[in-house]
Amino acid sequence: MNSTTIKDQVREHYGEHARRALENQSSSCCGSTRAASSCCAPADVIPADLIATKDALPADIVNASLGCGTPLEIAKLQPGETVLDLGSGGGLDCFIASKYVGASGRVIGVDMTPDMLALARQNAEKVGATNVEFRHGELEHLPVEDATVDVIISNCVVNLAPDKDRVFAEALRVLKPGGRVAISDIVTRVPMPDILRANLESWASCVSGALVEKDYLAKMRAAGFVGVEKIAGGENPIEPVYSAKIVARKPGA
Ligand SMILES: C[S@@+](CC[C@H](N)C(=O)[O-])C[C@H]1O[C@@H](n2cnc3c(N)ncnc32)[C@H](O)[C@@H]1O
Repeated sequence: MNSTTIKDQVREHYGEHARRALENQSSSCCGSTRAASSCCAPADVIPADLIATKDALPADIVNASLGCGTPLEIAKLQPGETVLDLGSGGGLDCFIASKYVGASGRVIGVDMTPDMLALARQNAEKVGATNVEFRHGELEHLPVEDATVDVIISNCVVNLAPDKDRVFAEALRVLKPGGRVAISDIVTRVPMPDILRANLESWASCVSGALVEKDYLAKMRAAGFVGVEKIAGGENPIEPVYSAKIVARKPGA
């Protein structure tokens, strides 16, 4: 299937979520092909030390999250750091990250869906986030300067990208030497059958674009990342599709 067709479907799918959230309607996470583990964060995956920060945010922003985990749990953000969120959606992870990096740090969210950006910017105003900005762009062509980011986070997005090699190459480009990556994403135990790969709705629901875990990690290593490691996910052997937490870093200082 052609990349443009996939991206158009993904943009339409998340645009619809964003428009519903902008109209203050409830927006269920995924389409009818939702798998056992797909693009929704069950409430209990928010770790205890993030709960206070999350609870301080308006419920509609928290509830509009479309993630599949909590990359912030493994990102170990420090005051003053520059954080980039790949596929920032309504901005929840950016707003939580902004509390960790403080006024001396900053957070950049990138998303390719215009209505998601409108939602995220509206949410930023609502929470008074002054160290967060949202940029329009694709993960495959990040609107970010070379070697300017300390930490990349991403929550349930890379699986949606048709060209994951390009996404990882771009992530490496924008990180400072020694910069780190903390990702929550959907991966699989066995390759997706072709019939599912060709299903656009299932692709947009974070299922069909998912890679086998070891292939995902291999692509990160091939892009040049070191310390690539799955920290959690896939513990239940009967779950064919699951959310994994992955860390890595760019070689250097
Ligand atoms: C499943 S949602 C997750 C949003 C957010 N990370 C969260 O946890 O709520 C996927 C988001 O990634 C964006 N997205 C998907 N593919 C993208 C790409 N290739 N480039 C930029 N954004 C993308 C979509 O527009 C959508 O907002």
